[in-house]
Amino acid sequence: MANDNYVLEAREICKSFSGVKVLDHAGLTVLPGEVHALMGENGAGKSTLMKIIMGIYTKDSGSIVMNGQEVEFKGPSDALYAGISMIHQELSPIPEMTVAENIFLGREKRKIKGLPFMDRKAVNSSTMELLERYEMAEYIKPTMKMKTLNIAQIQMVEIIKAVSYDSKILIMDEPTSSLSDKESEVLFKIIENLRSQQVGIIYISHRMAEVFQISDRISVLRDGNFIGCVETESASHQKLINMMVGRELERGYPQNTAEKGEVVLELKDMCSEGVFENFNLSVRSGEILGLAGLVGAGRSEVMQALVGYDPLDSGEIYLEGEKIEIHHPSDAIKNHIIIASEDRKELGLVFGRSIRENVALQNLEQVSTASFLNKPLEKKLCNSYAKEMTIKMNSIEEDIGSLSGGNQQKAVLAKSLMSKPKVLIMDEPTRGIDVGAKSTIYNIMIDLAKQGIAIIMISSELPELIGMADRILVMSGGKIMGELTDKKEFSQHKILSMAFGGVLNES
Ligand SMILES: Nc1ncnc2c1ncn2[C@@H]1O[C@H](COP(=O)(O)OP(=O)(O)OP(=O)(O)O)[C@@H](O)[C@H]1O
Ligand SMILES: [Mg+2]
Repeated sequence: MANDNYVLEAREICKSFSGVKVLDHAGLTVLPGEVHALMGENGAGKSTLMKIIMGIYTKDSGSIVMNGQEVEFKGPSDALYAGISMIHQELSPIPEMTVAENIFLGREKRKIKGLPFMDRKAVNSSTMELLERYEMAEYIKPTMKMKTLNIAQIQMVEIIKAVSYDSKILIMDEPTSSLSDKESEVLFKIIENLRSQQVGIIYISHRMAEVFQISDRISVLRDGNFIGCVETESASHQKLINMMVGRELERGYPQNTAEKGEVVLELKDMCSEGVFENFNLSVRSGEILGLAGLVGAGRSEVMQALVGYDPLDSGEIYLEGEKIEIHHPSDAIKNHIIIASEDRKELGLVFGRSIRENVALQNLEQVSTASFLNKPLEKKLCNSYAKEMTIKMNSIEEDIGSLSGGNQQKAVLAKSLMSKPKVLIMDEPTRGIDVGAKSTIYNIMIDLAKQGIAIIMISSELPELIGMADRILVMSGGKIMGELTDKKEFSQHKILSMAFGGVLNES
C-alpha cells in the first residue's frame, strides 16, 4: 500500500544464501519520528533484512524505497550518504583512534557540513557540538581513545556518527544486549531526542519490556516471512510471542530441584590490582550461583582471570578440595572449569571456521580415540550438541560467522557443554537469545545442575538472575558487596542497592 509519509519502505524482499531462503517476501515501513521495533526468533532474518537495506548484502528481489523513490545502494557508505545508518549487533571500533576521528573517519575527501578535510581542531569541535546537541557530552569527550570506552559509550559514538550524516533513519540491531539497565535508560533518552528530531528508528531487540516501553509499532518476522505489524499500544506480550514463535510458551523459570552436594570450587582472596580484590567464593555441586552487579563491576574480569585469560596477582583456587594452579586457559579446561563467554568474538568463537571446528576446538580429548582425532565421533558429538542447543543451521560444516547472532551464542554454549564441565561459568548466557530459546537454555541449566555441575551465572537481566540462581553474590567496583542466600528474599531492589554500595533508599 502506498503511503506518502513513509521515509523508508522495504518491499517484498527475498534473499537466499547458497540456495537456502532466509528472507521470503519480507518487508517493513518506517515513518519519520517513529520507533519501529523488529522482532523474531534467532535466525528469523532480522539482521539480514537490515543489511540488505544498508547495501551490505544484495537482495535477490524486491525493492527499497526512500520517500517514494526506489533506491539501490552498493554499500553502506551509499546508504549513509542517503541518510540511513546502522548500529550493528557486533561493534568493531578502531581502538587507537579518538572519538572524533572515529566519527569523521573516511570523510576526509567528502565535504560534510562545511568540513572540507580532516582538521583535528575542527573535527573535535564539530564532535563536541554534536555531543552537546544530543546530550551525550557528560558521557564522552571528542579526544577520548576508542579503546578506553565501554560498550555503551561506543554505541554513543556510533549514534553521533549516524546523526552527523544527518541520518533520517537509524537502525539499531540489539543495542541494549550488552548494556546494564542504567545504561539502557541513557540510550532510551537519546532515542527520545532523535525521535523528536524526526529520525525514524528501526529497533531490533529480544527484550519484550523495552520494546513495549519505547516503540510505536512492532513488526514480526518468522523464518524469513513477514508475519505482521501491530501498533504497540494495542499489542500484548502473548500476542507477540504467538506471532514470533507460532505457539504458546511456558511461562516463568524452571525450579532448580537438584540436590546441593559438596563444594566443587573455592576461590580464596583472588586479587588483580585495579580490577578486583579479596574475591572469595565457593560453589557446590548442583548449585546455581548468581553474580550480580552493574556493567564494569568486575564480574567478567574475575571469571576470566579464574579461567586463565587474565593474570592473577594473588589468590588460591581449590577444585574438589585440592589446590590447583591455572596460568593458561588450557589449565582451566584440563580441570573442567569451563567458561561460556558473552564475548563470542574475542574469547568464544573463531570466525571463518566451521561450526564443527569451533565446537570441537577445545574438546580434542572428547573427540579422540587413542590420541587420534576420531572424525565420525567428532561429527556425531557436534551434531548432538548443536541439536540440543537448537542451533539453526544447514550443517555443522557451515562457517560459524554465517550464523545469526543468537545462534552463535548457542554455539558457544554447545562448545562449553562438550567440555564436560565440573564448574560451568555462564557469562550473559542469554544475551541476544530469543524468548523460546531462552527457556531451552534455562532447562539445560537445571539438567546440568542435576548432573552435579556447579554453575556460576553472570547476568545483567535481573529477573533472569533472580529466577534461576539459588544464591546471589553482588559485586561493585571489583569487590563483593553482599550475598543473598534465601531465594524468597531475592529482589531487584536489594540487588541494586548492594550494587550501588547501599546508597539506594528503600522506596
Ligand atoms: N553471510 C551469511 N551466509 C550464510 N547464511 C547467512 C549469512 N548471514 C545470515 N545467514 C543465515 O540467515 C538466517 C537469518 O540470519 P539473521 O542474522 O538475519 O537472523 P536474526 O533474525 O538477525 O537472528 P538473531 O536474533 O539471532 O540475531 C540464519 O539462518 C543465518 O544462518
Ligand atoms: Mg541478528
